[in-house]
Amino acid sequence: MKILLLGSGGREHALGWKIAQSKRVTQLFIAPGNAGTSEVGTNVDIQVNDFDAIKDFICAQKIDMVVVGPEDPLVNGIYDALKNDSRTKDTVVIGPSKEGAKLEGSKDFAKAFMKRHHIPTARYHTFTGETLDEGLRFLETLEAPYVLKADGLCAGKGVLILPTLAEAQRELKEMLGGMFGKASARVVIEEYLSGIECSVFVLTDGKHYQILPEAKDYKRIGEGDTGLNTGGMGSVSPVPFADKDWMKKVEERIIQPTIKGLSEEGIDYKGFIFFGLINVKGDPMVIEYNCRMGDPETESVMLRLESDLVDLFEGIAEGNLDKRVVTFDKRAAICIMLVSGGYPQKYVKGYPISGLDETGDSIVFHSGTKRENNQIVTAGGRVLAVTSYGKNKEDALKKSFEIAQKIQFQDKYFRKDIGQDI
Ligand code: AMP
Ligand code: GLY
Repeated sequence: MKILLLGSGGREHALGWKIAQSKRVTQLFIAPGNAGTSEVGTNVDIQVNDFDAIKDFICAQKIDMVVVGPEDPLVNGIYDALKNDSRTKDTVVIGPSKEGAKLEGSKDFAKAFMKRHHIPTARYHTFTGETLDEGLRFLETLEAPYVLKADGLCAGKGVLILPTLAEAQRELKEMLGGMFGKASARVVIEEYLSGIECSVFVLTDGKHYQILPEAKDYKRIGEGDTGLNTGGMGSVSPVPFADKDWMKKVEERIIQPTIKGLSEEGIDYKGFIFFGLINVKGDPMVIEYNCRMGDPETESVMLRLESDLVDLFEGIAEGNLDKRVVTFDKRAAICIMLVSGGYPQKYVKGYPISGLDETGDSIVFHSGTKRENNQIVTAGGRVLAVTSYGKNKEDALKKSFEIAQKIQFQDKYFRKDIGQDI
């Protein structure tokens, strides 16, 4: 089978690494990929939202399956674009339809879906420019802190958590006044939930589902979860509080009604669902849905997934995912993200990276790298995801830490406390 994987980050390197291990794959292409993905397949210079170029490539290379890494092309309707074109309608797409991707692409859609299907989530109301005054009054009925969410995709910046009513009311005006353009034309205001977060991933063929290893990611730049938000500074799997009892609650109260709800509403969904959950006094609640895998969670999750990922994808294509088997590696996995100094604010790119040949049995996924004249250089804020197995999380952290120290590039920074708070 020939597979085209779309994306260019650490998530796609990890997915590509796992896909390339499958005996079912004859050729793997990654578009556009990065310096790391070129070690597990062939990079193709096509951008993820260039649907015409993607279709031409599928036809020219006789691609059997397209695996979509990031949310952008899904929210923009890549599934429908391929299905509605006679040349590509039979190509398997791992990723939901445009309607299904609204679970991530519209916070209001996701909240209304959860309400319809009685899925536990924070109480909320959605407001627009026309209902600004009601929004300001609704804030007065809530207690601090206040959670404001832009309805549409904002590259991870659309959620504001504000400590005072005055700030929340000011920001609501700003958001509805166009702070994030069209994405904040609607704003969801919701109750603040307090607890530890956990990312749960499933694959679904629209009727059946399989649960993948869970993970926790670390979003803040500083140790002890301090400082600015980032795209993710590391991840750990398993998550100790996500034990059998907790996962049973997740499955019965959240996963099953979600899959059933999608199916009942006739929403075509064949791909990953990422449940961003929070543990509120032992009970899981949904913070958000994403229509793709998490980054940097995928880097740990792929290490712990023993099953052949392509076999699971075939189960999706054939509608018999329930007949496939998912087994987890018992070991722990920890990913430490090496980032450019200054990230998530201003940073410099193009620094040469050394030490990539001496990584022991750790796996170094590339997030933001590129090859320049046979030298791998930094090409983003998040640069490398150093991922290791361990007997337990302390052991995995120790291994990732050693390699994180060995790899060198100018102004390298990483957190040393991944997985230590749980
Ligand atoms: P989201 O983009 O919806 O994942 O929100 C980004 C982050 O904001 C989440 O990972 C949480 O840490 C936080 N957050 C979102 N909604 C809530 C909520 N209702 N209560 C507490 N924290 C939240
Ligand atoms: N790690 C969170 C995300 O991928 O959205």
